[in-house]
Amino acid sequence: MATQDAADTPAPGTDGDAAREAAVETALAKLDLDAKARLLAGQDTWSLPALPQIGLRSLVMSDGPVGVRGVRWTAADPSVVLPSPTALAATWDPALARRAGRLLAQEARRKGVHALLAPTVNLHRSPLGGRHFECYSEDPYLTTRIGTGYVRGVQDGGVGTTLKHFVGNDAETERFTVNNTIPPRALRELYLAPFEAIVRDASPWGVMSAYNGVNGSTMTQHASLQLGVLRGEWGYDGVIVSDWMATRDTTRALNGGLDVAMPGPRTVYGQALATAVREGRAEECAVDAAVRNVLRLAARTGVLDAAPPAVAPADLPATVDGDALAREIAHRSFVLVRNERGTLPIDPAGVSSVAVIGAAARDARILGGGSAEVFPAHIVSPLDGLRAALPESVAVHHAVGADPSDEPAVAGQGFELRAVCRDVSGRQLGSEPLPSGLVQWLGDFPDGVSFEDLHTVEITGTFTARESGVHAFGTRGLGGLALTVGGRLLFEGIEEPADEGDPFEAFQGTAVPRGEVELTAGESVEVSLICTVAKLPEAPMSAVACALVHRDPVRDPEALMEEAVAAASVADTAVVVVATTERVESEGFDRTSLALPGRQDELVRRVAAVAPRTVVVVNSGSPVELPWRDEVDAVLLGWFPGQEAGAALADVLLGDEEPGGRLPTTWPVALTDAPVTQVEPDDGELVYEEGVFIGYRAWEKTGRTPAYPFGHGLGYTTWDYDSLDLSTTDATATVRLRNTGTRHGREVVQIYLAPGSGGPGLPERPARWLAGFATVEAAPGETVSADIPLPRRAFEIWDEKTDAWRLISGTYVVEAAHSIADRRLRARLHVER
Ligand code: BGC
Repeated sequence: MATQDAADTPAPGTDGDAAREAAVETALAKLDLDAKARLLAGQDTWSLPALPQIGLRSLVMSDGPVGVRGVRWTAADPSVVLPSPTALAATWDPALARRAGRLLAQEARRKGVHALLAPTVNLHRSPLGGRHFECYSEDPYLTTRIGTGYVRGVQDGGVGTTLKHFVGNDAETERFTVNNTIPPRALRELYLAPFEAIVRDASPWGVMSAYNGVNGSTMTQHASLQLGVLRGEWGYDGVIVSDWMATRDTTRALNGGLDVAMPGPRTVYGQALATAVREGRAEECAVDAAVRNVLRLAARTGVLDAAPPAVAPADLPATVDGDALAREIAHRSFVLVRNERGTLPIDPAGVSSVAVIGAAARDARILGGGSAEVFPAHIVSPLDGLRAALPESVAVHHAVGADPSDEPAVAGQGFELRAVCRDVSGRQLGSEPLPSGLVQWLGDFPDGVSFEDLHTVEITGTFTARESGVHAFGTRGLGGLALTVGGRLLFEGIEEPADEGDPFEAFQGTAVPRGEVELTAGESVEVSLICTVAKLPEAPMSAVACALVHRDPVRDPEALMEEAVAAASVADTAVVVVATTERVESEGFDRTSLALPGRQDELVRRVAAVAPRTVVVVNSGSPVELPWRDEVDAVLLGWFPGQEAGAALADVLLGDEEPGGRLPTTWPVALTDAPVTQVEPDDGELVYEEGVFIGYRAWEKTGRTPAYPFGHGLGYTTWDYDSLDLSTTDATATVRLRNTGTRHGREVVQIYLAPGSGGPGLPERPARWLAGFATVEAAPGETVSADIPLPRRAFEIWDEKTDAWRLISGTYVVEAAHSIADRRLRARLHVER
């Protein structure tokens, strides 16, 4: 049975269209120019102003892809945290993506959010892309299908989505200013393709205009892409909102099709837009068109009183159990890339001791950094998950082995903290408990506190040491900083903003150690970090960010390593969790290396040399080099697995669940093999000179062998592909396959299309590409079949001569495959224009 159907029913939003449109027009007609211009600019970091005269409440937006943060950027307001978008794509299951979307809509409603700033459907052009973890895949079709499911799911819950970043934000270096030169065919066939198909199939209510430029025009002003292609060709009727601080010029943005400039209150829309109209530099009818789009979003999300929302309260989907769904997506996303001698699953009855090794085994990295960051109510670490799942008779020993980072991290374990806000005279304005040492307020402040009056924030409380030794304390953030620990002033000074660099990275700041204090385990000290708020006159929003950071005593690296080796040598199985850090994978910068940080590679090798069986779990959002991959028994890619990390890991390692993931992107052996490694602009220009050859399209062309190919992933059963039949009337491939193993399993059946030799004048096409897929489930011995439609677009190319799609006639080889490198059946299909 194919299980993709639930993803394919249309999202709500069409019933009542006429009534909503009428309400929008009535509301628009009542607004004067100033009110209209105000509505097109953020009133603060996350919302648009209310206009009571037309019954419009304030429309609230929030990140992001893996959870809904709400308007407070704080752990005090937790959210369900799902696995990273790369993980969601690794499930190859649009129906599951739709369920994820429904949960996020439920979370959005709980937090008063009307539009989610997600999904991110830029592509994995290069593994170095800093937000690789936040995008789905190197393949536009897989991206489309997962993105479609996600958008439908969120909008099923009456909450808007914002497809982002339109278009070409595939790397982070100089992202605010870079001009990406993208050949028309690559632009259409790869980078625009997910936007086009998701607009067509899921009607997202929002699209976010990217920071970067494409082919000479910055995206917020890109009339030919925003008005010509998105609205004109594709018939998009939602709102176009700028990425945060991406709008540069009032008139050019308006004429380029940008509806809303975020964030506020200082923007080039609002008052500046009204003035531009009055001075004849902008047309009021263009303002009206933008306002209409905003009102339509407000109507759909139920924020415009007179309009029926797209989803009536009675039609909202049933409540979703967020913790359970986070766990399900995680185990469905884990990709087992190697499993020698049936190492996995581990039979709990067959082991008496397990060594769990790695810093990330204790402190899992559950999500990537940047605007995608949200704060969970709890995290199940791999260690906790395994301890809870293994019978008491199995001894579990943990050893750090190698610390991937020696940088201090935001104060967490052992700290009891609160934030105290004061005005310039030292009067207390307000105060709130802090679950960690991080203060990150964007436009929204504790009760009684206004940005105007706020002068200092004191992060204050106690720290009780978990370990004896020298503890380092430090700061993150800009402005005046005074750090006192145990009555000793460790630092007092001013941290100035850098002249250049990514503003968001600068805003978050870098952790700087400021001093050391020797403590014995159990000893408590008072801590205080007073941050004098830096109010930059040119900053577009009211924001405060600073943090108290801390590092436990640094242990001798060799002693750490030996401890792990000793634990592994006496255990029946060693589970080593290796990971990247916040300094490796985050928004705002690209990676420069795919190596695991610190001595983790050495750790794996030394453990594998002594442990009877070694299972390595890779905790990263995107590809890393695994130079020891053939020396260990099993390798499980766990992505950034979300809040239920350890619970899902135990499910898979102990065999309660099958690892369901298949690679959404090719994993190279080494960075030097990766087809695209150029993410750094040259004099402001980044040329996509590889054209349509990214990801597996490029790997197949060069003939190089990656570490793990696109689509690869092992389950706990085996499959025979019995037959592949093609129906030429509706271009559907029917694959019959049989579960030949001993346990129930799930298989992702992939269909690749390999073109014939082509004709004269035809541009070079990839050797093959993904044209369809479906998930099947079967009991041992059971035969199942999947009907997989092959979309017309799979047979088309973008013809640069005619600027149009062109169906390429001829004979294609249709391949039914387990992965791009493991193709089981083939059949020929003749296609005629
Ligand atoms: C990111 C967007 C995000 C926005 C708001 C930007 O820096 O690029 O993806 O939605 O911030 O947080």
